[in-house]
Amino acid sequence: MEVEKGRGGHVLVLPYPTQGHINPMLQFSRRLTHKGLRVTLVITIQNLQEMRASNPSDPAFLDIEHISDGFDDGLPVDFKLDTYVDSLKRVGSQTLDSLLTRLGAEGVRPLCVIYDSFLPWALDVAHAHGILGAAFHTQSIAINTLYLLHHDKFSDKKTDITTPISVPGMPILESSDLPSYMSEPELYPAYLKMVVLDQLSNMDQADFVLANSFDSLEGELSRELAKAFPLKMIGPAVPSVYLDNMIADDKGSDADLYKAVNCLGWLDERPVRSTVYVSFGSLVGMPKEQMEEIAWGLHASKRFFVWVVRTLPRHLEGRNLLPKGFSEATKDRGLVVSWCPQLEVLSHRAVACFWTHCGWNSTLEGLSLGVPMVAMPQWTDQLTNAKFVSDVWRVGMRPKADNRGIVGREEVERCLREAMEGETAAEMRRNAERWSELAKEALDEGGSSDRNINEFVATVCFRQV
Ligand code: UDX
Repeated sequence: MEVEKGRGGHVLVLPYPTQGHINPMLQFSRRLTHKGLRVTLVITIQNLQEMRASNPSDPAFLDIEHISDGFDDGLPVDFKLDTYVDSLKRVGSQTLDSLLTRLGAEGVRPLCVIYDSFLPWALDVAHAHGILGAAFHTQSIAINTLYLLHHDKFSDKKTDITTPISVPGMPILESSDLPSYMSEPELYPAYLKMVVLDQLSNMDQADFVLANSFDSLEGELSRELAKAFPLKMIGPAVPSVYLDNMIADDKGSDADLYKAVNCLGWLDERPVRSTVYVSFGSLVGMPKEQMEEIAWGLHASKRFFVWVVRTLPRHLEGRNLLPKGFSEATKDRGLVVSWCPQLEVLSHRAVACFWTHCGWNSTLEGLSLGVPMVAMPQWTDQLTNAKFVSDVWRVGMRPKADNRGIVGREEVERCLREAMEGETAAEMRRNAERWSELAKEALDEGGSSDRNINEFVATVCFRQV
């Protein structure tokens, strides 16, 4: 079902303002425009400035508006998440409210606000304007099920996650497999409040709950959430163009959204399935000792690699630093970049393996593009995602850490060997390719996610609050 842009009505899409949340909502927006909706992406002034600094022309398929998080000139050095989240809620609600009023006056009142489920206040603002609200889950069904079934353990601060958790449809989860807000709530009080408690506070009032997942992957698991909320799985949020043809050629890429980095040209020069792609997402700040072990492990493996090493904000100074001499030692085999078009890289013929932190987007992208993974989670939902990658979907392996929690260089080398050569590698690739087919089926016309998106669009267009 492809309809002329804008014929079906207007919706706002409001992500939590970090890359791992903007990306899937942007990809979902792209699908909505193919279904005939006019989409306006609403981001913070900071996000907007970053996007325009990377590329002065906005993406053509949607409109962009902004709200304020109260930090229009940038985040302070003494950044505190709880202060930020309070400000985002207070100033964000006011500026979203003004935006909806203005759009109404201009005759382009949206039919629905699709908001990141980390921003539950957006639902109240939408409903106050008589507009539908759709919560968008950027994390897995498994994670949200864990939060739903176990959130009461946190509300009275009597957390006791010492015994493994058993949830129908999931493997037994040891404490080390749980999202860090559950296993170590004292370390992350502000995240615990935002991600576990506040997120669920009004979700039962949402008109839709959209999840970035798909039926064959987490359909069985989705039953619990579907009892509580009007759930629709609409993922994976990966453009079909990548799923249709797993060899990257000209994809009309997303590079226009990010700083152009020519790692695709570099990959073109590498043999088929020769290269490991290493990335820990947009937020992870790796400590010095771990950076050294990964670096020298990559060097010792003698394999080609592309490694994304993020430049971090000032409050994370001292992390993500490459060891001295590494760049020189690996200049013939490796490329270190601060950002790359990940979907293109993962679907490039030269890439054999994805060394990932298992952020939900990276996990879904690796799985959907049929790339075997080495799963090295750092915090939040990544620990549970990694458990599913290795033990349930069987598309990846877990490196073993030493008693300091560090994955040593010999272990890096061993994992790369197993993930790129021999029977383990072949089996993981077979499994990954099977998941890739199922992801494509879900999104193809008439597939489970495609039908869910059609139902969502049809309901939004014909129903008001
Ligand atoms: C975080 C959480 O880890 C994740 O689980 C949650 O759902 C969203 O917030 P992040 O750590 O950034 O996200 O990881 P991930 O979910 O993998 O998202 C990163 C996104 O950035 C992916 O879509 C990936 O394709 C993209 N990316 C990353 C690039 O396009 N280029 C890069 O160089 C690195």
